Amino acid sequence: MKLSVNIDHIATLRQVRGGIEPNLSQAITEVLEAGADGITVHLRKDLRHIQLADIEMIQSNFNIPLNVEFDAYTDLNSFLSRFKPAMITLVPENPNEVTTEGGLKLDSDTSSLGQTLASLREKQIHSSLFIDPKPILINRALTLNPDAIEINTNHYSLQTVGSKAYEEALSNIKECAHLIHNEGLRVLAGHGLNRFNVQDIAKISVVDELNIGHSIIARSIYVGLSRATQEILLHLR
Ligand code: PXP
Repeated sequence: MKLSVNIDHIATLRQVRGGIEPNLSQAITEVLEAGADGITVHLRKDLRHIQLADIEMIQSNFNIPLNVEFDAYTDLNSFLSRFKPAMITLVPENPNEVTTEGGLKLDSDTSSLGQTLASLREKQIHSSLFIDPKPILINRALTLNPDAIEINTNHYSLQTVGSKAYEEALSNIKECAHLIHNEGLRVLAGHGLNRFNVQDIAKISVVDELNIGHSIIARSIYVGLSRATQEILLHLR
């Protein structure tokens, strides 16, 4: 199972002071040397952490799969005229949210989303939709024909490991992972995963890649980025 490390909060810390520390390039180097397969950033509308200049820097200095999370309902064209990441993950972005609050609901007109996916296909950029682990939502997402679906593991991550609610949430994730895999799409998962709750997700063989940020960056304060990344990878390989 692959790991894409979300490095947004390295940029969050940098933006607090507006300088250049901590250095994003150094952090990415450390995460990749520790064995991560790729890097994820969320280019938020309020630019509170990752800046366009960061994406420019990553694109010119690193030959790695870059996954950019982007609001599903913002026009991507000007971004795509400058950048060509390996993948764009479309997420719902609510103003003032502290983090992505849930997956795409896809319960109203999805034609603009369909057009966004078509333009990504045309530009040969892989697309992923961030979706809560409910078969009805996964089925809606499948009709849009993205390259991948990222299962939102947030609800699962909020349960006590081993509890009934945890087992139920895990079972929903497994069911949805197989639903996506059986349609031939890549299965991704992420949000709220850490070195404890990742262990059961790592056993779902059809999940191809995890996207983990906050827990790795938080843990790195105590043990460094390299070890924090390796502590996750230990369960994936
Ligand atoms: N996947 C998506 C779509 C996200 O928006 C985020 C948070 O930016 C993550 C995964 C990673 O979540 P966490 O930072 O809790 O590991």
